[in-house]
Amino acid sequence: MKDEDRYPPVNGIGREEHIGMVREIFTTIPGRYDFLNHLLSLRRDVAWRRFAARKMVFFDTFRLLDVATGTADLAIDAALCHPGIRVTGIDFVREMLVPGQRKIAERGLAGRLDLLQADALALPFPDGSFDVAASAFGIRNMPDRLAALREMRRVLVPGGRIQILEMNAPPKWIRRLFFAPYLNRVLPAIARFYSKNPAAYGYLVDSILNFPTPGVFLEMMAQSGFRELERHSLTLGITSLYIGRL
Ligand SMILES: C[S@@+](CC[C@H](N)C(=O)[O-])C[C@H]1O[C@@H](n2cnc3c(N)ncnc32)[C@H](O)[C@@H]1O
Repeated sequence: MKDEDRYPPVNGIGREEHIGMVREIFTTIPGRYDFLNHLLSLRRDVAWRRFAARKMVFFDTFRLLDVATGTADLAIDAALCHPGIRVTGIDFVREMLVPGQRKIAERGLAGRLDLLQADALALPFPDGSFDVAASAFGIRNMPDRLAALREMRRVLVPGGRIQILEMNAPPKWIRRLFFAPYLNRVLPAIARFYSKNPAAYGYLVDSILNFPTPGVFLEMMAQSGFRELERHSLTLGITSLYIGRL
């Protein structure tokens, strides 16, 4: 078995196994996570998060929750873009938060931005705590997406908004011409060279290709109680920003 084939396909495993795999993967990759994200996306990830940060609207609590914050890039972008807000980032893998803590200190944001270890499915906050609950590239890793969306809804104030930034399989012609060769050849080669756990990037490809289509995901947002749904298609549709209101 090749190293990058080490994780089983996400559509063939149970929820608990998927969650265990996600925890293991993100425990092993934080050191090179930011570098590889920028390299593999040709820095589009930076533009996608900034676009999401600019779309946020604060009006009541002036607080943002960044769910599955990882190394805190979305949380930091939002804090820089909206100087009047306080931000909390949560992630269930402590190792992912370590580079985030360092970046927050370097940018002088420690007084306005907290990171804590917590599970997206059991957020340690009372109902109605935030104006915006956001997540970038997190929800793909949560097998129970409806539960995750509902938990984000619970902590929003009335009129609050959810923002989900996520990659999806792009339209067929782009997939055939560019995406498949890139995901199947270029990305694993780069990951093998730079990452301590190249198999994690096999999981990344698999999880993107198995994420619901935009139409299906918007339907899940509606089922979770969000309205006035929007989808912004970014970079030829390989990434979407989904917005909904309470
Ligand atoms: C691809 S990373 C995204 C990190 C960051 N938001 C970004 O924009 O780069 C996915 C993150 O989701 C976190 N995660 C997955 N499931 C989670 C859960 N149930 N609760 C909290 N964090 C979770 C992982 O630990 C990982 O840090």
